Amino acid sequence: MTPVVSIENLKDHVGEEVTLQGWLYRKTGKGKLQFLQVRDGTGICQAVVFKGNVSPEDFAAGKSLTQESSLRVTGLVKEESRAPGVPGGYELDVRELEAVQLAEPYPISPKEHGVEFLMANRHLWLRSSRQWAAMRVRAVIIQAIREWLDGHGYLNVDTPIITPAAAEGTTTLFEIDYHGEPAYLAQTGQLYNEANIFAFGKVYCFGPTFRAEKSKTRRHLQEFWMVEPEIAFCDLDQLMDIEEQFISHIVQRCLRECAAELQVLERDTTHLERVTPSFPRIHYDEAVAMINEAAAKGELVPGYDEPVPPMEWGDDFGSPHETYLAAQFDKPVFVHHYPTQVKAFYMESEPGRPEVCRSVDLLAPEGYGEITGGSERMSDPDKLLAAIHAHDLPEEAYGWYLDLRRYGSTVHSGFGLGVERTVAWICGLDHVRETIAFPRTLTTMRP
Ligand code: 4AD
Ligand code: MG
Repeated sequence: MTPVVSIENLKDHVGEEVTLQGWLYRKTGKGKLQFLQVRDGTGICQAVVFKGNVSPEDFAAGKSLTQESSLRVTGLVKEESRAPGVPGGYELDVRELEAVQLAEPYPISPKEHGVEFLMANRHLWLRSSRQWAAMRVRAVIIQAIREWLDGHGYLNVDTPIITPAAAEGTTTLFEIDYHGEPAYLAQTGQLYNEANIFAFGKVYCFGPTFRAEKSKTRRHLQEFWMVEPEIAFCDLDQLMDIEEQFISHIVQRCLRECAAELQVLERDTTHLERVTPSFPRIHYDEAVAMINEAAAKGELVPGYDEPVPPMEWGDDFGSPHETYLAAQFDKPVFVHHYPTQVKAFYMESEPGRPEVCRSVDLLAPEGYGEITGGSERMSDPDKLLAAIHAHDLPEEAYGWYLDLRRYGSTVHSGFGLGVERTVAWICGLDHVRETIAFPRTLTTMRP
């Protein structure tokens, strides 16, 4: 029995006879030669079937293979710089071939399909090379997230998904029935994270979060994954220091490990290579001034072909504003001190300037928008109670949260990074629906 080898490991088996198990991606050839593009989940390799090297039965089996048929091929690994494939550079000189199952006519062909059709066939679409590449990059991003946090003294403490109250505003909650009592799917783990820092110092939670967002944009999902670090004795400036180290690590690890995937995605990595500390930091006031100046001059939003829309101080940015701002810098840019009125109740206000809060969003380059949102948290119990009232939140639901400010309160901060937006940015995908295996959008929850 020859050893079964993964395509990504072929480089270690040049000159050896190995077996690949996988599926037929594409097939060409004529007469005595067949070129099979075999994919096995780790890559794509060209298997060359020459009539003189295999039994007549195996040659016929190769000819019978349809797209996506499952198969086993055994042969000699050869270095061949021109061989197509992912990562490419190696091919298999086939000696034996077994068709495991001949696939029925496959609905997804190399020709163009509409997105609706592809989404309805997401369970099959995932096999296509671009989707495959994006999911592989996503997995590396998640590894990098955990690696950096685990290596910098953050304890992973996961937070509940079933929660009795809102944390990020009451308009985007998914309600469920908790044995007769209303409950909600978590929009964030942050409030519980805040309890955890008083026990463990630096923590993070990482899991799915849920928002019944009525927005049908290319950046919003109903269910998305968020990693949320939270740090005791940390102020807004220190938070930005942490974020820029963390995000640079994620990007640089992807560049190192995902070259083949980024190539499949045809990602221009110039912007990504520049993602190293430190990142520019601008005040919201300054951001509004930049936008209104550009609007007055009739400047266009890059990639939108429309003029920068003017805005009022106090409003949140729209996507064209974020895209314009990000395009003014060659790295991700922090925008800090947003108006209190557009942010969540728990954000610390700026001393002497209560209309702005000690919050920070990180905007990714190239129009990918906000990838992290964070802030310093309100640390005074009386101020926090007033904020809870001002937001019409039920005081009794937040009793435990107020306790955190009664027993050893201190300045503390945290942020949340949206995994799907980060994947979209690093992979250069223009819609978050392709950044998770089975996306939940306003219009899709099947398959
Ligand atoms: O800015 P957000 O709402 O912040 C929070 O939830 C805080 N509690 C985090 C914290 O401080 N611990 O969300 C954080 C990030 C956004 O920057 C964005 O990347 C992502 O989560 N995000 C979404 N991603 C996909 N679809 C949605 N509907 C998203 N909403 C937020
Ligand atoms: Mg936000």
